[in-house]
Amino acid sequence: MPAVSYSPDSSIANIAPQSFDIRSFRDAVGAEIVGLDLSRPISDQDFARIHRAHLDYHVVVFRDQRITPEQQIAFSRRFGVLQIHVLKQFLLAGHPEILIVSNIIENGQSIGLGDAGKFWHSDLSYKELPSLGSMLHAQELPSEGGDTLFADMHKAWDALPEALRKAVEGRSAAHSYTARYSETKFEGNWRPTLTPEQLAQVAEVVHPIVRTHPETGRKALFVSEGFTTRIVGLPEDESTALLAELYAHSVLPQNIYRHQWQPHDLVFWDNRSLTHLAAGCPSHLRRKLYRTTIQGDAPF
Ligand code: OGA
Ligand code: MN
Repeated sequence: MPAVSYSPDSSIANIAPQSFDIRSFRDAVGAEIVGLDLSRPISDQDFARIHRAHLDYHVVVFRDQRITPEQQIAFSRRFGVLQIHVLKQFLLAGHPEILIVSNIIENGQSIGLGDAGKFWHSDLSYKELPSLGSMLHAQELPSEGGDTLFADMHKAWDALPEALRKAVEGRSAAHSYTARYSETKFEGNWRPTLTPEQLAQVAEVVHPIVRTHPETGRKALFVSEGFTTRIVGLPEDESTALLAELYAHSVLPQNIYRHQWQPHDLVFWDNRSLTHLAAGCPSHLRRKLYRTTIQGDAPF
């Protein structure tokens, strides 16, 4: 396994390993981690197990984590450099590493990003350095709805019909944050108008359609309806038709894990292996989660 960046405190000797289970879901992807307490120091040995589970299952659910924003940030940093979201309006006061994902409106203002995932997407695929993974920590959950769905893009690639494989192999696609920025799916969703400075931070980028996971070497489809706008070098109608086929193929039910949130869940997924989607909840029900986003490598 290639090195990941360890924060200095992970090298402190004599942190006792914790006793915890990693249980894979029966669904295509995902596992839950039970019995681990992320508010306590995590030994290098435990960290290695968590890291391995993240690579093997692509999304890991840490149950019942009573952690502070500082602890979420510190744990996230063990996997790499954190990315600060372009929507400064929705960063947690005093902790810009945390993006507030929430439909709550206070004093007429949204306190967070109301629908962070209205279309299937991989976080920050619109950046030169997309995200390695994201962590979402439940703060307030609705009594109904609010699920998050994850689709396995390795399986999507592995099972892609030969004709589609040939059509995309070696090709690149453009990704843009702004392409569907203002399209709303959920009632009551509101998104701030991007300033020129914010727009400059999210200029269109181009990535390979098929990427190789830098740690496992597995190939994955790396396009999504949320951020991918066109296939480079194809006429627009062909590009649109081909992307539609890839999207349809990448979210087949057998390759999806649907996460139904439990109080204090911390969910950590691999954006190099998965796309995800917010199912949404009725707008009168409060939902709030804290997201940290870890920077990954340039896709190849
Ligand atoms: C995200 C995201 C999905 C959700 O925070 O990156 O896509 O269900 N969230 O809130
Ligand atoms: Mn997302």
